[in-house]
Amino acid sequence: MYTRPRRNRKSSAIRNMIEESHLSVNHLIYPLFVTDEENKKTEISSMPNIFRWSKDLIIKEVEECVKLGVQNFVLFPVVQEVKKDKVATYSYADDNFYLEVIKNLKREFPSITLMSDVALDPYSTDGHDGLVENGEILNDETLPILAKMSVAQAQAGIDIIGPSDMMDGRIGFIREMLDESGYSNTSIMSYTAKYASAFYGPFRDALDSAPKAGDKKTYQMNPANKKEAILEAMLDVEEGADFLMVKPALAYLDIIHILNENFTLPVTAYNVSGEYAMLCAAAQKGWLNYESSVQETLLSMRRAGASSILTYFAKDFAKMTK
Ligand code: PBG
Repeated sequence: MYTRPRRNRKSSAIRNMIEESHLSVNHLIYPLFVTDEENKKTEISSMPNIFRWSKDLIIKEVEECVKLGVQNFVLFPVVQEVKKDKVATYSYADDNFYLEVIKNLKREFPSITLMSDVALDPYSTDGHDGLVENGEILNDETLPILAKMSVAQAQAGIDIIGPSDMMDGRIGFIREMLDESGYSNTSIMSYTAKYASAFYGPFRDALDSAPKAGDKKTYQMNPANKKEAILEAMLDVEEGADFLMVKPALAYLDIIHILNENFTLPVTAYNVSGEYAMLCAAAQKGWLNYESSVQETLLSMRRAGASSILTYFAKDFAKMTK
């Protein structure tokens, strides 16, 4: 027995010396939900410790996170039913509160990274990411709406546009509109391989954005498939994306791995709401240790090849490691 792998594990110093993957708060992007209200925070029932923040309180929340070392945020709007219509007009309206919050946050905290969500579902009476006609999700008719939304967000000062809608050709379409409007410095993180997943449930509760009819299987990917992820990534690269994303993360570590092996763009993992809920529930029951399970989960995404991770654990992770 010449080879004894345990020799390389015999002390903490040696274990640290040969450690391959690292995880720090620098890698994390914290999702925040914002409402058109004042002085109000409401916990999301299926996501312990995650809140919908009113537009004034979110400023304080970001300040607290920044003090803990969190520097990257993604913002999701909770839109009132009365503001929704079939064509998501409110998504780029001048009086849109989400755009106002983007402006305020970038004014208060110029050095943070602020990422947006681009899709019709928060603004649409149909609750789908694209335009719906006779039960069908129209692709090319959706693109101009996504592009208008993106330009409005760029104008408000967003750092990274985050198209989560899975329409074909949207990255190129949005890139062209951004460039034509003078926003060639605004980045795009494409939701490259976004699967039709059961793990988005708590997020749809948070936003009240579940589809009114049907499901998202004609645009989000089939969980059984891997090759399509490569095709989607090839298109995103061609169309000018700056980052690729895989979503969800935990059940899709092989997809993160294969994109990272085959493409030079950084790959981001979205550790989604259902993954958060499931770990919190087990920890609340005392079945799992919260801190070590969170760290191991996030580290597995880094090991798989994610350079950054969107995660609802970001703030807690910052606290744990401070
Ligand atoms: C919708 C969108 C979803 C998420 C992010 N953007 C839900 C969906 O596709 O239905 C899910 C995020 C999460 O579950 O944490 N454009």
